[in-house]
Amino acid sequence: MARVLVIGDTHAPGMKTGYVRFLQRIADNYDINRVVHIGDLVDWASISYHEKSPALRNATLEYERAKKQVATLTRAFPKADWMIGNHDALSERQAITAGLPPDLLKDYADMWDVDWTVHPRFSKLQIDGVNYLHGDCGRGGQDAAFRQAKDNFRSTVIGHYHGQAGVRWWANPEFRVFGMSVGCGIDVNKLQFDYGRKFAHKPILGCGVVLNGKQAYFEPWLLRSR
Ligand SMILES: [Fe+2]
Repeated sequence: MARVLVIGDTHAPGMKTGYVRFLQRIADNYDINRVVHIGDLVDWASISYHEKSPALRNATLEYERAKKQVATLTRAFPKADWMIGNHDALSERQAITAGLPPDLLKDYADMWDVDWTVHPRFSKLQIDGVNYLHGDCGRGGQDAAFRQAKDNFRSTVIGHYHGQAGVRWWANPEFRVFGMSVGCGIDVNKLQFDYGRKFAHKPILGCGVVLNGKQAYFEPWLLRSR
């Protein structure tokens, strides 16, 4: 039976300073023996399809910076399952846009120098009967995790929605399942999140924990008082 730490979207190099330390503390508290990164490990603002400020066009620099942040995560968690998110997949998506076969690209583990198990975009991982997926291929909107759990008749853990976090249960006479959104680990003050400034929903920093497929907790990052 697994005691799973679920790391939220980190969007390196836009990961919040201190997020790795926070994750380590939660991992120790719960005696974690398995780690899942729910996707969007990296941001790839420089090659995104969004209109971007000129400062965000240096892909070489972004790659270097992101790699450094990724290394802090892999030092803390050498083994993990990584659900490829829509941002992680930007290199592959741009290759397709350019008409290149994606097989020409390095695989994700080599690209980011991680010894993690890579799960392709839109795939799902099942641990102790719980589905883990990035979250961008099921139903969206408010309470996306809860809706996806209901649709699957299966407890479901997602990331992707930076402004959603928490656990909500649902039961009928035969099933009892939970949907959990794990929040994220991003720093909104970093430039690549400019495109998110206009949205009212701000990111919720934190991570998820699932014990034996039966218990689920969202752990919020504790904000300093202002
Ligand atoms: Fe994301």
